[in-house]
Amino acid sequence: MIQIEQLTKVYKTKKGEVLGVDHVDLTIEKGEIFGIVGYSGAGKSSLLRCINLLEQPTSGKVWVDGENLTSLSGEKLRRARLKIGMIFQHFYLISQKTVGENIAFALKAAGVAEKRRATRIEELLKMVGLEDKQHVYPSQLSGGQKQRVGIARALANNPKVLLCDEATSALDPKTTLSILHLLKKINRELGITIVLITHEMHVVKEICDRMAVMQQGKVIEEGSVYQMFAEPKEALTQEFIASVVNYRLPPHILRDVQGQILKLLFKGDVASQGVIADTVRKFELAANFLHGSIDYIQEKPLGVFLLEVQGREEDIERAKQYFLERDVEVEVLPHVV
Ligand SMILES: Nc1ncnc2c1ncn2[C@@H]1O[C@H](COP(=O)(O)OP(=O)(O)OP(=O)(O)O)[C@@H](O)[C@H]1O
Ligand SMILES: [Mg+2]
Repeated sequence: MIQIEQLTKVYKTKKGEVLGVDHVDLTIEKGEIFGIVGYSGAGKSSLLRCINLLEQPTSGKVWVDGENLTSLSGEKLRRARLKIGMIFQHFYLISQKTVGENIAFALKAAGVAEKRRATRIEELLKMVGLEDKQHVYPSQLSGGQKQRVGIARALANNPKVLLCDEATSALDPKTTLSILHLLKKINRELGITIVLITHEMHVVKEICDRMAVMQQGKVIEEGSVYQMFAEPKEALTQEFIASVVNYRLPPHILRDVQGQILKLLFKGDVASQGVIADTVRKFELAANFLHGSIDYIQEKPLGVFLLEVQGREEDIERAKQYFLERDVEVEVLPHVV
């Protein structure tokens, strides 16, 4: 649905050039929810704004729904852009207009006839759960409700893609969840491809299918959210993952543990406790749980257990082999802090 090829954005400022996006290649499939994470200044917004040409890329290409946007201009570009809706952290509603008028504005801009606008506004407000707010002004709405209006407005012209720039960053945790669930509903029911940028990993964990990590304008790692949680490769990805699922042991535990520390990774439907108990018994090991959790990412379980094991060296080796044979990934953690 979206193909980004060698995209670069350089900003020219009084103090010189600033590199916003640095040769990014990325493919986002039709119907997926794709998360882009990174710290402030990583280039997330720059990349997102280049997707709908809100920002003109310095070089590189962007295809959306089979059309090379970077080759279009004028009316053709305006038409192509209607396929892309966008929502923002600070909503950007027009405060002098009612909720209904805010949405009408987008419909009008796309040339929708006046008599069709009223029914469309009702449909959209129903979709976002604000049927009773059509004649209310934005100042009378909560943050979550304002974002719902932002979403209704972004969907007004039946886009194929929805770009979300920190759409939940100004909201409390409960409201954040309700907006994320609404985005998921829109994705599933309307088949809209969603690209979501955030610095909050739990947002990605909640609704994204795949993700990319950005640092200094570059995409440094990408993959399915499950795979990234299970085996993050880059240090920065590990740091983001650790903000929601943290398997680190306190230093004094690491220091005092006598046996080997095994990190066991259970992916998918493995009866983790059973396999561990079974292995420990089979090889007559003394075992001690130091840490353990089963997380559900996209409803698929991911179990991580830190186990201290003591026994004969060869038995421990055979136990590790036995785990591997049962599709449990094993890593020996160092004792150093
Ligand atoms: N309009 C601009 N003019 C000059 N430099 C810019 C402009 N917009 C962004 N930048 C610079 O480009 C780099 C990437 O910024 P960008 O806003 O894309 O990051 P971000 O990942 O979205 O950060 P945040 O999480 O803070 O929103 C930064 O160094 C930033 O200062
Ligand atoms: Mg940003």
